[in-house]
Amino acid sequence: MQAGYQCASSLRPSLNEHLFSKGKIGDELRHLILHIAQAAKYVHSAIRTTEMGLTGTRNQFGEKQLKLDLVSDDIIQQHLCESRLVRSFVSEEHKEIVELAHDAPYSVVFDPLDGSSLVDVNFSIGSIFGIFRGGSIVGKKPEDQVAALYTIYGPRTLLVYCTCNGVHEFILNEVGEFILLREFLGIADGAKNFSPGNLNSILDDKPYHDVLHAWLHEGVKLRYSGCMVADIHHILSKGQGVFAYPAGSRYPDGKLRLVFECGPFAYIVHHAGGAASDGKIAIMGKEITSIEQTTPVIIGSCKEVERTCALLTR
Ligand code: F6P
Ligand code: MG
Repeated sequence: MQAGYQCASSLRPSLNEHLFSKGKIGDELRHLILHIAQAAKYVHSAIRTTEMGLTGTRNQFGEKQLKLDLVSDDIIQQHLCESRLVRSFVSEEHKEIVELAHDAPYSVVFDPLDGSSLVDVNFSIGSIFGIFRGGSIVGKKPEDQVAALYTIYGPRTLLVYCTCNGVHEFILNEVGEFILLREFLGIADGAKNFSPGNLNSILDDKPYHDVLHAWLHEGVKLRYSGCMVADIHHILSKGQGVFAYPAGSRYPDGKLRLVFECGPFAYIVHHAGGAASDGKIAIMGKEITSIEQTTPVIIGSCKEVERTCALLTR
């Protein structure tokens, strides 16, 4: 291909073209992201065709697994293997890190179907991915990711990626191609929407009670679906907002997972101009000590994250 070549077309750029022209990444990482996007198309289809029942098993966090959780996990695993670019991967549905080709360049962490308890009510659900260079992710931090992306399966299927050069949103079109919807998504400093997880804990947690009252008095709007992908996508899509899932008596170290959920979202939100904290330190700088690690999280508009953390730790 000639240097400086650009596709001359009136069509919106495909994910491949966008990764090529704006991703600022090499071919290997571009191909890995395309393999993940391909897996997401199969998950999109599985959601429409797989029966909704439980499997009778539980994942490493003790949560009941749906057939769809395992089907999605299988689809993603297969695509990661076929890419020949993955040294190891770890899924929220597994207890262990799975080692693949020892000389492959990347490790992938993923939550195959976030919000799967909402499948029966037909709410939006999603898949979350973080990509690291090299092998084991233990000892690394979310800021070490070289890319993070998520897909959201709602009335439409979207994919949002970040490779350290902005956050970009794609839609799955009728011929099965992810094409650009919006690029360089940004998050403003102040929040007009709030998304409060672990709300029951306000009964015995005065600081969180105060945070909630501050939001209510300021007239910010409640937007909480029970699926982190959908709730964070709301913030990225509207360009402002705050999502919190603080610790409480029920979840002393928070409920959400650093590796599979908070880490990839911290990376994406940070690159959109927002922030993510566990109340004391930035999620981006938090060391991964185990794959099961959970963390409190306050994420979204910078100033609101800062204020919420200050109120929670008073
Ligand atoms: O994966 C965990 C998850 O389903 C997130 O997607 C979501 O934000 C959270 O749990 C919801 O938790 P709760 O049911 O306590 O509101
Ligand atoms: Mg999840």
